[in-house]
Amino acid sequence: MEVKIYKDKQEVAEQFSNYFAKMVNGKEIFHVALSGGSTPKLIFDVLALEYGTKIDWTKIHFYWGDERCVPPTDNQSNYKMTVDHLFSKIDTPSENIHRILGENDPLGEAMRYSNLLEINLDRIEGVPQFDLVILGMGDDGHTASIFPREIDLWNAQEHCIVATHPDSGQKRVSINGSVINTAKAVTFLVTGSGKAEKVDEIHNRKENYAQYPASLVNPKSGNLIWFMDEAAAEALI
Ligand code: 6PG
Repeated sequence: MEVKIYKDKQEVAEQFSNYFAKMVNGKEIFHVALSGGSTPKLIFDVLALEYGTKIDWTKIHFYWGDERCVPPTDNQSNYKMTVDHLFSKIDTPSENIHRILGENDPLGEAMRYSNLLEINLDRIEGVPQFDLVILGMGDDGHTASIFPREIDLWNAQEHCIVATHPDSGQKRVSINGSVINTAKAVTFLVTGSGKAEKVDEIHNRKENYAQYPASLVNPKSGNLIWFMDEAAAEALI
C-alpha cells in the first residue's frame, strides 16, 4: 500500500489526474470503476481541464463501484455527478459508459450489472477484474456502498449487491469486496478533516478498525494507493 499526502484537495486532484493519465497511456482498452459522492467532483473537473484533449477517451470504459437507486437525472445520482463534472467536458463515446441503472428495481439491477461485469471484464477465479477501481471513504468508514452495519455484504457471493444507507434508508447497488480486491489497481481519494478520524483508526490499526469496510480494501495485486490531503491525513503526518 502507498500513501500519497498532498497540501490540499486541489493538489490531490492534480496528482491523481497525472497518475490516471499515465495509467491509461498507451492502453488499447481500460476498464475503470468510478466512485461517487462529492469528493470526485473537483477531481473530475481537474481531470477534464488538464487532460480533456490529452487522453484518448475512446479506449476507456467507465463503470461505477456503486450507485444510488435514483433516476440518472436525480442530483443524488453518481452518474449525473460524473456527467456534470466529467462527461459533459470530454469526448467519450456513449457506448463506453456503463452506468448502473438506478431507476430500476435494485435487486434486478444488481444482477444485471453483475452479468455485465462478467461479460465485459476478464475474470480471475470467476471474479470480474477492473484495471482500476477508484474508491471514496465515508466519515463512517464505508467504501463503495458497503456500510459498517452491513459489512457482511463485503463477502457476498454476488459481484454486485443491494445495500441500504444507514441514515436515509436509500437503496444502493454496489460491487462487493471480491471485485474490489481483484482489481489490478485500487486508489482511494480521501480529502477533508471529516475523514481524519477513520484514516487514523484504519492506518494506525486502532480500536475496532476492522469494523470499517474501507479497512478491508487490500487488492491481491498489492497495487493500492491512498491519495489524501493533509486535512484527512493529519494523524499520519
Ligand atoms: C457514494 C460513494 C461513497 C463515497 C463516500 C465518500 O455513492 O456516496 O461512492 O462510497 O465515496 O461516501 O463520499 P464523499 O466524497 O461525499 O465524502
